[in-house]
Amino acid sequence: MRPAYRVPVPETTAAAARFDVAKIREDFPILRHPVHGKPLVYLDNAATTQKPQVVIATLNRYYTAGNANIHRGVHFLSERATQAYEAARATTRRFLNAADDREIIFVRGTTEAINLVAQSYGRTFLKPGDEIVISAMEHHSNIVPWQILCEQVGAKLRVITINNDGELYLDVYEGLLNERTKLVAIAHVSNALGTINPIRQVIDLAHQWNVPVLVDGAQAVPHLKVDVRALDCDFYAFSAHKLFGPTGIGILYGKAALLDRMPPYQGGGDMISLVTFEKTHYNTLPYKFEAGTPHIAGGIGLGTAIEYVNGIGLDAIAAYEHELLAYATDALNGIEGLEIIGTAKEKASVLSFTLEGVHPHDIGTVLDREGIAIRAGHHCAMPVMQRFGVPATARASLAFYNTEEEIDALVAGIRKVKKVFA
Ligand code: ALA
Repeated sequence: MRPAYRVPVPETTAAAARFDVAKIREDFPILRHPVHGKPLVYLDNAATTQKPQVVIATLNRYYTAGNANIHRGVHFLSERATQAYEAARATTRRFLNAADDREIIFVRGTTEAINLVAQSYGRTFLKPGDEIVISAMEHHSNIVPWQILCEQVGAKLRVITINNDGELYLDVYEGLLNERTKLVAIAHVSNALGTINPIRQVIDLAHQWNVPVLVDGAQAVPHLKVDVRALDCDFYAFSAHKLFGPTGIGILYGKAALLDRMPPYQGGGDMISLVTFEKTHYNTLPYKFEAGTPHIAGGIGLGTAIEYVNGIGLDAIAAYEHELLAYATDALNGIEGLEIIGTAKEKASVLSFTLEGVHPHDIGTVLDREGIAIRAGHHCAMPVMQRFGVPATARASLAFYNTEEEIDALVAGIRKVKKVFA
């Protein structure tokens, strides 16, 4: 039998010790609303995070007193909305430490960002026989767009396998890279396993073959400080709603030199500089990739969410969440018949598990009656389930507003599940 998996915890860091979770919870109004008459224990943060009052207030203020279309009007409201939207772009650029606002494209979310790169970059630069490398732990949104592209251009998908802990086999990855490789697309953090991939190393190895790398950062940005210039990634995608911001808005970061060479993804208003029936001239970056009226309130709300997260500090968040993950891992290990799926040495606060004799959906349903929200299913990562030979897992995913008391409630809830299905 393998020894129980434990998350190593360094000496309590000053940052984690200073973390005032009770105060932070006050910022999230939804946490005060009971579910089924019980206090809400929200442990489905990898699916979407809750929103702090400041983000809700930003959306409210925008629709109450600031609504207008952007980049078009000469009137006061339009100019003010444009300024706020562009300020959010600049906030996002600083958040990622990108070099230029032109490299920050507003999209609907991570999924659209990846589809944009597949269809714009991929269809332009890939040809029959070329290869795209992804990993066995990708979310469907970082698999299917590449499969569609492969069908369109005759390219092939190659997959980096993972070990029993849910870590990449880097030697397999190195073996997959060759002169036919034209793109690497990889998750920074796995939504189903929690694995934090050695992304800098993945990028360096691809660059030795002059291969650009797209990083799916959807599960990374709420937990880790991301510096796209230090990583030297070519594309980085994330969604606002997993970062305490609104749904329906996200970011594609791309190096300007690449984005400049890529054709537009969609045609429409705002992405043009001149239209005649003979020829259309496209707008400059980033607008070339932003056809149509965007989710203006969402973009501005993302800016507020980033400022909120910055106010707490991602180092403090990471330290606190790490301690919470270690506490939760130990607690779940104490439940007989429970197996944690995803035991990487470097992990974000995601706990996927199975319980002997109980389907994950049943776990989720019983926990729900206790006011505990988890996700049960394949987590949009069916190949991960296939890799571990399970139809589904139950998944508790933690954010910085979660507490040890909530983990205790989860454990008590799982013990109840066991009783119900005994
Ligand atoms: N991708 C989201 C999740 O992991 C929806 O739950």
